[in-house]
Amino acid sequence: MHALPNESAVVLGIESSCDEMAAAVLRGGREILSSRVHGQAQVHAPYGGIVPELASRDHVRVVSDVVEDALREADLTLDALDGIAVTAGPGLVGSLLVGLSFAKALAWANRLPLVGVHHLVGHLVAAEVAADELAPPYLGLVVSGGHTALYRVGEQGEPAMLGETRDDAAGEAFDKVAQLLGLPYPGGPAISKLALEGDPGAIDLPRPMSRRPGLDFSYSGLKTAVSIELKRRGGLEALSARERADFAASFEAAVAESLVARAVRAMRGASERRLAVVGGVAANRRLRQEMQAAADREGFEAIFPPLDLCTDNAVMIAAAGSRLLMRGVRDDGSLNAFSRVPIGETPWRGDASRPGTAAVSS
Ligand code: KG4
Ligand code: ZN
Repeated sequence: MHALPNESAVVLGIESSCDEMAAAVLRGGREILSSRVHGQAQVHAPYGGIVPELASRDHVRVVSDVVEDALREADLTLDALDGIAVTAGPGLVGSLLVGLSFAKALAWANRLPLVGVHHLVGHLVAAEVAADELAPPYLGLVVSGGHTALYRVGEQGEPAMLGETRDDAAGEAFDKVAQLLGLPYPGGPAISKLALEGDPGAIDLPRPMSRRPGLDFSYSGLKTAVSIELKRRGGLEALSARERADFAASFEAAVAESLVARAVRAMRGASERRLAVVGGVAANRRLRQEMQAAADREGFEAIFPPLDLCTDNAVMIAAAGSRLLMRGVRDDGSLNAFSRVPIGETPWRGDASRPGTAAVSS
């Protein structure tokens, strides 16, 4: 059996919770030796969103190649690994099971320690990999296709939720509005690109939850507002190219403004001075600019991982897994996939009282 805990442990991470199959090798929880991501945009593009059955089928097709590529890129063989980390939830169960089964088989065959990782904990830890100086406690804003929430990552790395979306996630709203505007999946990057040609002040859209107290988010009303305004103007076909870009820019501005307003409110109420902004939507140019401006104004530090650590990747899973493995947390062959898992919970781990089971970081 390999020696862990170990400050320079080499950990393989595997992530397959949605429509990316990813594998990465990390040393010491921070040093990226390799990172491979196989996306499925072409598989789902004709449907305007993810088709779960097609996602898991494609995962099965590529999983061993992606893991092999990650090992090759790190210039390592399996016997150099000290442990394996794999996303156990939340996510699409069929997708999760592919990475999970592969990780279990690999760990068993090579007598390696195995640990299941919470996908959102992975997103948060991505900021710690990106910024050497970042360690708990800090606040984290996770904005992805499936989740939009604010967390406080406590002294021991334990995440506690401060607020979350009451309906759609911000990324989901990007994807749905992209569909309304006739743009391809995934919608976030497509809207962001088109928005460069539009005027963010051209179309008057609501700023979700702006008059409500607290730290919750809501995006389904904004999507409906876009849809109503589109119909009022005679539908997508009646729009000029410029108007279509105005819709993209105005929608992007409304999402960015509402995320920044929530984050600022959270930071005003917190003693922490650092905010990690993570998840696929954190790749958004406008959000990054406006959050940075707010951070400068308010006197806090905003930390954004590089774009490839914002969208789904396995570096973040290897990093979160390394932190767990180094403190002695282990899972076994009974490790299972869960579609919905509140942050801080690990239903895949039999004994929740073991040390560090809910921790983001050491
Ligand atoms: O974190 P992620 O890769 O997967 C989930 O865990 O959901 O996030 C994917 C989401 C998608 O909804 C995609 O449209 C959005 O992130 N996204 C963006 C951008 N890049 C990806 N949204 C806005 N602007 C972007 N540049
Ligand atoms: Zn994600």
